[in-house]
Amino acid sequence: NRLLLLNGPNINLLGKREKEVYGEFTLRDIETEVANLAQKHGHELDCFQSNHEGELIDRLQQANGKYSGIIFNPAAYTHTSIALRDAIMAIETPVIEVHISNVHKREAFRQQSMLASACYGQIVGFGMKSYRLAALAFLENK
Ligand code: DQA
Repeated sequence: NRLLLLNGPNINLLGKREKEVYGEFTLRDIETEVANLAQKHGHELDCFQSNHEGELIDRLQQANGKYSGIIFNPAAYTHTSIALRDAIMAIETPVIEVHISNVHKREAFRQQSMLASACYGQIVGFGMKSYRLAALAFLENK
């Protein structure tokens, strides 16, 4: 029983970057909180963050069949990456797309996701809680 938490580019800068948009919490805070939640439900959590599209693709490919679900904040690659979409399509493991901010009330270019229609679901706009809600969608599912 394992979940994978994947984070894309610039998520390593949370807590320093655009705090009025993304809040004061850090990537470590997210990883700790989701790991605790997973543990309460008898799951282990693996975490990976990368600023490189290809590394995220590699991690998705390697994850196939190894997890009950993948919680993925693809950050700016959400809006651009057909390659990440194809990777999500290529694996059996369900992926939930997560965003900290409500991308639908921001710039027009953030309102389109290349990935959402390849995902099991999408959760946006709840800050750190977006990750918890995604985790619960997997954890309370079974
Ligand atoms: C984000 C939203 C993206 O548009 C942006 O590029 C990010 C963070 C979010 O979590 O709100 O880096 O994915």
